[in-house]
Amino acid sequence: MSSTVEQIKEKLDIATVVSSYLKLDQAGKNLKGKCPFHNEKTPSFFVSPERGTYHCFGCDKGGDVFSFIEEIEGIDFLGALKMLAQKAGVRIEEFNKGEHKKAEKLYHVMERSTLSYQIVLSHNKEALTYLQKRGLSMETIKEFRLGFAKEGWRGLSSELVAQGVSVSELSQAGLVIKKDDGGYYDRFRGRIMFPLFDVTGRVVAFSGRVFKGDEASAKYINNPETELYHKSSILYGLHKAKGEIRREGSCILVEGQMDVLLSHQTGFSNTVATSGTALSHEQLTYLSRLTDTLIIGFDADSAGVAASGRGVDLALAHNFTVKVINLPQGKDPAEIIMQNKDDWKKYILEATNIIDFYLKVLYEQTADEHEYRKAVENKVLPYVSCVKSKIDQAHYISRIADALKISEEPVWQEFFRIQKEGKEDLVRTARRSSSSSQKKQQVPKQETHQSTIEERLLGIILFQQQMHGKEALLKKLNEEYEKITGVSPQERLTALSSEERERKIFEAEMYFDEEVGIEGEVEELLINLREAILRERLLHTMREMKSAETRSDKEDVSRLLDVCNSISKELNKLTASKKPL
Ligand code: UTP
Ligand code: MN
Repeated sequence: MSSTVEQIKEKLDIATVVSSYLKLDQAGKNLKGKCPFHNEKTPSFFVSPERGTYHCFGCDKGGDVFSFIEEIEGIDFLGALKMLAQKAGVRIEEFNKGEHKKAEKLYHVMERSTLSYQIVLSHNKEALTYLQKRGLSMETIKEFRLGFAKEGWRGLSSELVAQGVSVSELSQAGLVIKKDDGGYYDRFRGRIMFPLFDVTGRVVAFSGRVFKGDEASAKYINNPETELYHKSSILYGLHKAKGEIRREGSCILVEGQMDVLLSHQTGFSNTVATSGTALSHEQLTYLSRLTDTLIIGFDADSAGVAASGRGVDLALAHNFTVKVINLPQGKDPAEIIMQNKDDWKKYILEATNIIDFYLKVLYEQTADEHEYRKAVENKVLPYVSCVKSKIDQAHYISRIADALKISEEPVWQEFFRIQKEGKEDLVRTARRSSSSSQKKQQVPKQETHQSTIEERLLGIILFQQQMHGKEALLKKLNEEYEKITGVSPQERLTALSSEERERKIFEAEMYFDEEVGIEGEVEELLINLREAILRERLLHTMREMKSAETRSDKEDVSRLLDVCNSISKELNKLTASKKPL
C-alpha cells in the first residue's frame, strides 16, 4: 500500500490540492494562506511544495496531502486515499481485508434501505402531507433523504432479502430484530424515517418517528449502535453543515432532526442536532476543527435546568465560546420557524454568552436576592470554572460580582473552591480524550527561555540538513550544542515526531527565507543558550546557598558563594562578547 501512497504523492502536487480549498500566495519558496482549520484574519498556514507538507502556526495542524484531506473532508485515511487516488489517476488494489469488506457491505445495506424508505414515502400521500404541514419543502425532504417504513413485520427485510442481502447483515445493520425461535422482524415499522449520515454523507443509521402510531410507543426509535454507527460521534446534519460552519465561524446546535431540517431550510445550514443526547468529546473535537463558537438552541426547559447534562460544560472545557439562544419556554426551534421564520434569525442574532444568559435567566426565576445568589453560586460559577481562558474567567467573575452587587473578592473565593472540587475531573477527562485521539492537540508546553532557544537551534539544524554545502555550519552547530547542553542534538531530533520536525523546518524557513544572516543568528543563539543555562545554574546555586544558610552550614555557604562568583564572571564575559562596542 505504501507504494500507492508514494505514487499519489508523486503525481499530485500538494499546492494544487490545497488550492482547491483555499487561496494560496507565494511566500518565499513556500506558499501561505488563511488556515482552513481555524478562523484567522492573517495567514499563518504554510505549504511546502518541495516537501509536500503543510503547517499552520495558528492552530498547530500539519502533515501531508493525506492528512490535509482527512482533516478538511472529515474522512479517514482510507477515504482520503481513495479520493486522492482518483484525483491522481492512480489505481488502488482492492483492500481485501475482511473488516473493510464487511463495513462496505453494511454501507451498501444502509444505502439500499434508504432508497427503499424513500420510495415508500413518495407513495405515501398522508405522510408527505404531514411532513409538509410541519413546514418541510419537498426539496428538504429529498435533500435529507427522508423516507417511510411500511407497516407490517417484514416490509423492508423481505424486499432486501429478495435483493440478496442476508438476514444476518440486516441484523448487523440494526434493521431487523432476531427472535429466539430463529424468526425476525423489522425494527422500524410504520414510521417516518430519518437517515443519519456520517460526515461524508454516507447513511450509517436511522431514526424513525412515530406516525399515527399508538401514543404509548416511543416518539422516536433509533438504530442500535453498529459497526458503522457510533452514537457519540454523529451529529445530525453535519455532512451538510460542515462547510457552512467553517465559513460562518459558528455552529448552531439544536436537539432534534426537525429543528435541523427547518433551520437549514430557513438559511441556517450551519445547524446540527445532538439528537437529544449530551455532547461528546468526539463531537466537540470534530467541531473544534471547524469553529470555536457554538450557539446552543436547546429547548428552553433543558437549557435552563439540565444544560449541564448536555455537555455544555464539556464544550467550555474544549475552549469553545458558548452562546445560548433564549427560546421561549416550551418551544423548540422547529416551532419558532413554523410560526415565523424571521423570528429564528432574530433569536440567533440575540444569542447571549452562556454566563450572561444564566445570570439573566436566574434573575428572572428567583424570588429574592438571597435565592439569586445561591442560584448563581450553584449554577453559574461551575460554568466559569470550566472556561479555559484565564482572561475570560476574570471577565465573568467581574460580571457575576456586578450582577450580585458585591465585590469580586468573595466571588473569586467561591470560584476557587468550586474549581478545586469539580473542574479537575472534567478537564482531566477532556485532556485524556484529546490526547488519545491521534490528532495532536495544543497542550501548552512548559516553556522556558532555555528550551525556546534550544528548539530554535534544533529547527535550524533540521532546516540546514536539507540543504547542500552547509556541512561546516552544521558541524559547528552540532558540536557547540552538545558542548553547551550536554546532549547531542541528533539524539533530540530523532526523538521528535515527524509532525514536530515539519513544524520546526517551517519555522526556520520563515525566519531565514533568503538565508540571510543565518551564521550570525546561530552565533547569537548559541551565546544566548549558554547565558540561559548559566543563569539557571546561578539561580539554582543561590537557592542552595540559602538553604545552607538556614542550616548554618558555613563551609557549604562559602563553597557555594565561590560557585556563584565564578558563574557570574562567566556571565559577564558572555554579555561582553554579545555586545562588542
Ligand atoms: P423532541 O422530543 O424534542 O422531538 O426530541 P422533536 O425533535 O421536537 O420532534 P417533533 O417536533 O415532535 O417531530 C428531540 C430529539 O431527541 C431524540 C430525537 O433525535 C429527537 O429529534 N429523541 C426524542 C429520541 O431519540 N427518542 C425519543 O423518544 C424522543
Ligand atoms: Mn418538535
